[in-house]
Order: sequence, then structure tokens, then C-alpha cells
Amino acid sequence: MAKGFYVSRVCGICGILLAIAAVAVIIALSVVYSQEKERNDQLLNTPGTTSGTTTSATGTSSSTTSTPSHEPWDNYRLPKSLVPDHYDIRLQPILTKNSIGLYVFYGKSEVFFTCVEETNLVIIHSNKLNFTTPTTAVLKDSEWNDLPVTIVEIKPVTNYLVLHAVNKLEVGKHYSVYTEYVGELADDLAGFYRSEYVEDGETKIIATTQMQAPDARKAFPCFDEPAMKATFSITILHKPDYVALSNMNAIENRTLIQEGEEWTETVFAKTKKMSTYLVAFIVSQFKPVGDPGNGTTTGVQIWGRKKAIEDEQQGAYALSITKPILDFFEEYYQTPYPLPKSDQVAIPDFSAGAMENWGLVTYRETALLYDPAVSSIGNKERVVTVVAHELAHQWFGNLVTIKWWNDLWLNEGFASYVEYLGADKAEPTWNIKDLIVLYDLHRVMAIDALASSHPLTTKEEEVNTPSEISELFDSIAYSKGASVIRMLSVILSEEVFVKGLAAYLKHFEYSNTVYSDLWTHLQAAVDSNVPPLGLPQSVSTIMDRWVLQMGFPVVTIDTATGSITQKHFLLDPESVVTRPSEFNYIWIVPISYSKNNSPGNYWLQTSTEINDAFRTGENEWLLANINVTGYYRVNYDEGNWNKLIAQLGSDHLVIPVINRAQIVDDAFNLARAKHVSITRALDTTKFLSSEFEYMPWQAALSSLSYFVQMFDRSDVFGPMKKYMEKQVAPVFEHFKNITEDFTIRPESLTDQYSEINTLSSACGYGISECRELASKLFKDWMNSGTNNIHPNLRTTIYCNAIANGGEAEWNFAWTKFKESDIAQESDKLRSSLACSREPWILNRLLEYSLDSSKIRRQDVVSTINSVCSNVVGQSLAWDFVRAKWKQLFNQFGTSSFSFGNLIERLTRRFSNDFELQQLEQFKLDHQEVGFGTATRALQQAIEKTKANIRWVNENKEPVLKWFKDAMAPEMV
Ligand SMILES: *[C@@H]1O[C@H](CO)[C@@H](O)[C@H](O)[C@H]1NC(C)=O
Ligand SMILES: *[C@@H]1O[C@H](CO)[C@@H](O)[C@H](O)[C@H]1NC(C)=O
Ligand SMILES: *[C@@H]1O[C@H](CO)[C@@H](O)[C@H](O)[C@H]1NC(C)=O
Ligand SMILES: [Zn+2]
Repeated sequence: MAKGFYVSRVCGICGILLAIAAVAVIIALSVVYSQEKERNDQLLNTPGTTSGTTTSATGTSSSTTSTPSHEPWDNYRLPKSLVPDHYDIRLQPILTKNSIGLYVFYGKSEVFFTCVEETNLVIIHSNKLNFTTPTTAVLKDSEWNDLPVTIVEIKPVTNYLVLHAVNKLEVGKHYSVYTEYVGELADDLAGFYRSEYVEDGETKIIATTQMQAPDARKAFPCFDEPAMKATFSITILHKPDYVALSNMNAIENRTLIQEGEEWTETVFAKTKKMSTYLVAFIVSQFKPVGDPGNGTTTGVQIWGRKKAIEDEQQGAYALSITKPILDFFEEYYQTPYPLPKSDQVAIPDFSAGAMENWGLVTYRETALLYDPAVSSIGNKERVVTVVAHELAHQWFGNLVTIKWWNDLWLNEGFASYVEYLGADKAEPTWNIKDLIVLYDLHRVMAIDALASSHPLTTKEEEVNTPSEISELFDSIAYSKGASVIRMLSVILSEEVFVKGLAAYLKHFEYSNTVYSDLWTHLQAAVDSNVPPLGLPQSVSTIMDRWVLQMGFPVVTIDTATGSITQKHFLLDPESVVTRPSEFNYIWIVPISYSKNNSPGNYWLQTSTEINDAFRTGENEWLLANINVTGYYRVNYDEGNWNKLIAQLGSDHLVIPVINRAQIVDDAFNLARAKHVSITRALDTTKFLSSEFEYMPWQAALSSLSYFVQMFDRSDVFGPMKKYMEKQVAPVFEHFKNITEDFTIRPESLTDQYSEINTLSSACGYGISECRELASKLFKDWMNSGTNNIHPNLRTTIYCNAIANGGEAEWNFAWTKFKESDIAQESDKLRSSLACSREPWILNRLLEYSLDSSKIRRQDVVSTINSVCSNVVGQSLAWDFVRAKWKQLFNQFGTSSFSFGNLIERLTRRFSNDFELQQLEQFKLDHQEVGFGTATRALQQAIEKTKANIRWVNENKEPVLKWFKDAMAPEMV
């Protein structure tokens, strides 16, 4: 799966003007991820829909009370006695409401399996299915004879259908279980579910699937564990004006009449051996673009709403990159794409970002569709990286699958790394591979540096229940997994890495692995082809340190003495690590370095070592972790810091661009952790006035966003704003020059991002030329009625024009917002409505947010969040939420996962005793109503406010002095 949320990539500073600061990376991301988890839990735990549907199971004795005695069906893991071979599944979703107002689907399913341990119990997953077979389920032998069964029962807690056979099943013999059932086609985004959209004023319904992790059991009874691979023959019944899709190509369709109505039965080719969580089927009126394939060539098609695909050609970009990426992975994995076709489908309601179902990949619309008229370059990058991620899984994950969910990090970490390679192939001019450092490595380090982090690996026996499984889908699995696998591929060299990988895929195709199986095959590749830099230890010895221990080291190099040390890096120096490590938090660290540009390599294997190579001469600097291929931070002695900063000041281009971003990011994090002073961190921003590249600026802007939050209402902000204005002014001139006054876009991806960052910083920190430009472009739109503002720049231009404008600008944007039927565009407009500086306008927007005829319910929380990002709106939003708490709570408190996010955003600037008191009072006042899904966020907000108070007390004076000094005339 791709990450379900999208942290906007070029948002370092969306509207700093109003101090709409970027996310304080540290907390925000962990919050987003935990919310994703909470939401998953809610989805998984939605109350049963079994009661009240059309039919009730007959012959079923249902037991909900779990007995103290531990029976096989009390176990969340399947017994090992039966192994599935094949499923015959026939499903008929009804896309109209039935007589009691429900949408349902009918299923007939037979699962064939082999007995490998003698047993008289058949235990198989089934969840929320109402069996209509006269005896609930029928057990048969391989000659199709019914076998006698004493009891058939359903175990709702562990999601089992259990058959007690009279006679024992014999080892080596084949059996099957046949069932007929009805399930609800709910809009719960899990299992076989329903999604709706409106086209030409008409509501259209589609039936689609999301099986990962444990929801195939909601569509058909199955052995629902990834290692229980089998083949599937799927048949779907649908109305003739709909089309059915599944993992494989359709091989036959027949027309049949049912109760006087015409139906089409589409039969799909039998699949390869695969896991249940990768099964998919969709019934819709979607349209395709692309090549359906002809049996010899692989079919590649993009599907979506008719309007998006046929009228607006929004599938064209995805189509242009899908085949090149598939071809790339065939070559990279040295394994042909195993299926006859690969469909990519954009689903209007989708919980994750995308899902790698084998041969039928599903996406959120924003992750697949791209409209050059309204989508920004960031939207385009999102499409290419998500497509590459899901296609990477077609081999790594689908052809070869993890045995159990505890190894999810390998599956997701690997795909999250190679998605950059696939995307690079499709967009070779973008230098997209560099960006993994910003998007994955820096971001996840902020979370992995907390004492509450956890290792990549989890023991198999610790992961059992659906919520334990869903908890594994976090940023550690995705982004740390990706960073560590990237480090391994650099250590081994691409050539050796790919060789071992191909051998692994070949050896385990159509079966399952644990993560150490990959190490074994990489080791074999190393043994036959030693990497250029050699290896100090075996692959598994090195990797154990990174995957069995949480966190990462800070490596400190003293260039005066040549000493090099490592220490577990903790963002909060007072935090206490309670989780023990068998390696005592010592890693085997690959140190690549550059001494005045001559390269070297070193392996740090203990806590302290001395090596002459790290000693530098008087005019030499040393830089370690070249291109940040290693998953660690670097600190230096004062002298070396001074030399690096001097080098950045005189000719920054001598230092690679990724390391320029690293120096900034490391310095600010080291300052948070009190390894270096706050002024040392600020020193690393001085060179930015001559820096035109995206990565270093982005690193600085996201590091400084915390400063903005803490100081934008205090006397520090004046000097800070002046300093930032001075830094950004030459960059603004540069982009103005190369874009002919911002009328054309720069060539490269990162230059386009840099242009966006530059404009929003320049306008935000008060460069009047920028603000005038924003107002002018917006006025042109208002006057001419034609929006000529490039999609990349819209968020910034709208926000600044509204901030600097009055009621007329706001009303115009409001009208356009109400008229827009393109989600990407209306989101941009809606967030910019919160940029006004007029309190009365902001209060009106807050009132509108609770009126569902004005702002859709799904957007309420995000609208309030936008208002509190605005320094003017912050206190208005806080008052508003306190006044309306009861109403907000009733609407969102128990179900919405964004509720905690609201508390986080409201309190983000809180940094004095008065605000802490208010927060504690708020907690007391609403004890009765409660805080629902925001309970934890409220507690965290109180703790964070206390931490902010401490930070401001410690840092305000030196920071103020530093900004003042930086603006003073140069001393000679
Ligand atoms: C039915 O089969 C025909 C011929 O194979 C094909 O052209 C048509 O698209 C199919 N219809 C559906 C609904 O799958
Ligand atoms: C570092 O990254 C840059 C940009 O991707 C690349 O050109 C350069 O070759 C890399 N340097 C090393 C030593 O790998
Ligand atoms: C503008 O660009 C031209 C050519 O690219 C260059 O010669 C000139 O120095 C630039 N001016 C500024 C202010 O950057
Ligand atoms: Zn994935």
C-alpha cells in the first residue's frame, strides 16, 4: 500500500506570511501516522453489519463469548493443518438499494484445500458474511461427496467459520468447503465495498475492493493469511452497461436473465498462486485509456470516471509512465512481469493512497489522475512515485510475499525505496532519487529519534489481531525501511544488490519469505562478487544493528584528534530509553567522507575509534555521510563546523547539494538535542542568500517553521523577518530573471519546487514586489474571468492576494470555490480563504465551516485548521472551538480521526504560562462532554506546551541576539 496521506511536498512554507508554518516535522508526522492508525482501527472495528440484513444464517450456532479454555478458534492465527489450493468465487454486487435500504452482494464460493495434519476441524476466515447455504457450509471430499459435519459455527471475535467434521480429515487428501452468502456492500472502504460519485448530476455507484490487510474474509470465506497462497477463479455478475475487472483478464462473458432482468457474467482467467490480500475486483462504469493487450504484449490501461478519462484526458500522464516503469522493473528485477495485464484504476473513495492488488492496482484519484490545466508539478510527482511504488510491489510483495505481517517493513520499505528508481526512469530529468533524503530520511529520523520509537522488526508472535496488524503500517516501516534498504544497496553497490535481489525473487517466486531470506541471497551475491568497498561483517550482522534496534546514531568526528564516536541520537536529551537492545545501541556504520573534496570510506563498528584519516590540516574541512546514503546524523568539533560554514559562505557549490541540506537539517536537530548551540544551527542558514537549490532551502524552511510558531507573536519576529527577507531577496531576483517575471516555469522539478518556495517565502517575509505580483495576477483573474495563474503558483498567489486584499478578493475566491468541481482546485481556494487578515472575515469563515450548505462536512476540520495556521486567525479559532465544543464534538468527536489533529493545530503556537492555563481550563470545562478521539492529542498538547515554554525560555534571548547581529552591518 502507499501511504494513505499526502504530506504536501512543497509546503515548507505555504504562506509564511501568516506564519502558516510548515508542520513542525517532528510532532506533526507522528500525529499523522498515529491518526492513520486510529482510523484503521476504527474501520476494522466497525460494529458488525450481520444483523438486520436480508437473510440470517440457518443452522448456525453463533458464539460470541470466548471461553477461558483456549480452543483453536480462539487463536487469531490459523492452525497449520489445512493448506488452500484454489478458490472458485462467483460474486454479484447489487448496485441499487434493497427493500430495507441496504446495498448487498451475493456470493457463491468454494475453497479447495489439502489436509497436511490430521484434524476434524475446518477453520477458515469469514467476517460479516450471512450464509444462505441450507447448512451454512458444505464440506466435500475430492470426489464431490458431502461429508458429515456435526456443528457449523461462526466465531465473530476471531472472524472464523468453523466446521466440526464427524470423521477426521486425512493427511494428503483434498477437500473443499462450499458456501453461499450475502454480505453488505457498505461504504466502509474495506473488503468488498461501495463507492459513489456524481457524474452529470447523476449518482453513480461502483463496487470495489480493499483486502489488505485482513479484509478478504469480508468478501469470501478464505484462509486469510499472506502465506496461504492459492489460485483464484473469479466470476462476476453485473449489469450489461457496467464493466467488471479483476486481477486477471476476462476470458468469457455470457448474458443471462435473472428475474426478468438481463445480467452479464464475466469470467476471469485463473490467477497465479497468490495471497488473499492481493485479490481485487471492481464493477463500475469506468472508462479505460491505453492498450488492453493481446496475449503476447502486456496490457496496460488506466481506468477512471468517464469524465476524467474521456473528456479531460486525466489518465494520459499515468499511461505515459506506466509502461516505462513496468519495463524498468522487469529489467531491474531480471524477472518478466508475471501477468498478462496491469490495470491502474482511480477510485473516488479510497482509504490508503493506493493498493498493489496483483494486476489490478487501485488508487486514490489524486494519486493517479493528472490534469495539466489545474494540477501542480507536485501532483505530477505524486502520480509517478505512487505508480512506481505499486508496480514495484508486483514482484516484491506479490510474486514473493512476506510470510506474516510482522515483516511488513521489508515489503513497504523496499517498495518505498525502489519507487524512486522507477520514477527516475520515467522522469529522468527530475533528479528525483535525491529527494528520498527530504521525504523519507529526514522526516522519519525526526520520529525515530524519540525514546518512544520502535525497531523495524517485530516478532511474529507479537502480531495477531487486525489492530496489531494495522499498527505496523507506520512511517518507521515505510520511510526508515526505505532509508535502510537504500543504505544497504549503496554499501553493496547497485550491481551486487540487484544480483542478490534477482536470485531471491527467482528462488521464492509464488511463495513466501522472512526478511533474513533476502540477507541470505544478498550475502551469496557478495560472496561471488565482493563489493568495491568490501564488507567488514556479513550482511546479516550489519543489518541486524539497523533492523533490530530502534533509532540511529549521531556520529561525532573530531578533526583535531581524529576520534570518531557514535551514540544513540535522542531528540529530547532528557528522555529515557526503556527498551533494551542486545547491541547496546551501537551500530555498524558506513562512513563515507570527503576531505576538501577527496573521498574516503570507513567502517565505524564500536563506540569510539581513532583514525588519522579524520584529522584535518589547517585549511581542510571534513564532510561525512556523502549524499546522506547512511542513516545517521553527523556532528563535528567546533573548528570543523566553522570551516564547513565558511566553505558554504565562500563557494557552497563545492559541497554536494544533498549535503548542503544535510548540514542544515543535522545542525537544527543537533541543537534540539543540545549537541550544538542554537546559534550554530542558525549559522548554517547564512549561505542561503546565494543558494538557488530546493533541497537546502527546504531543509531550512522546515527547520525554521518551529521558530515561526514560537516567535511570530513576539519581538523576535521583527528581526527574524528582516533576516529572512534579506536571505530570500537574491533568490527571488534569480527566479524572477530565469522565469521572465514568473511567466514561464523553470525546467527541472526541483527548480520548480524552489520557485514555489521562493515565492511563498518572499511574499511571506514581506518582499513588496512579490506581494504586488500576487495581487496583480489575482486581479487579472477577477477582471478577465480567466485564470491564467499557473497551477504550481496558485496556492501561494491566492493566499497572498487574499491576505493583502479586502472583501472583494475574498468574495471572488469564495464564489470560485463554490463553483469549482475539481477537488484539487477547490482545496487550494478553500485554504486560501483562511489567509485573510481581517478578523471579521475569518470569523465569518469559521461560522461558514459549520454550515454544510457552505462547506462540506469532510472539510470542516481542515478549514478550521487553516484558520488557526494564520497568526491572525489562531486566537479566533481557539475561541470558536471552545465556544462550539459541544456541537463539534457531537459531529466529529467519536468518529473523525482528524479531531486530534484539530487540537494539535489549535495549540501549536502555545508557548507561555497563560496559554498553558487556558488549555488546562479547557480540559476541566469539557470533562463532561469529553474529548473522544482527541483525548490523546489534548494530553500531548499540554505536554508540548510545557516543552515549548521551556524551549522559548532557553532560546529566546540567544535567538533574538543572533537575528539582530545577523542584520547588523558587517564587521571587518
Ligand atoms: C464481453 O466479451 C466481448 C468479447 O470478448 C468483449 O468485447 C466485451 O468487452 C466483453 N464485455 C464485458 C462487459 O466484459
Ligand atoms: C551525490 O549525488 C549527486 C546528485 O544526485 C550525484 O551527482 C553524485 O554523483 C553523488 N555523489 C556520490 C559520491 O555518489
Ligand atoms: C539574469 O540572467 C542573465 C542571463 O541568464 C544573467 O546574465 C544576469 O546576470 C541575470 N541577472 C540577475 C539579476 O540575476
Ligand atoms: Zn506499499
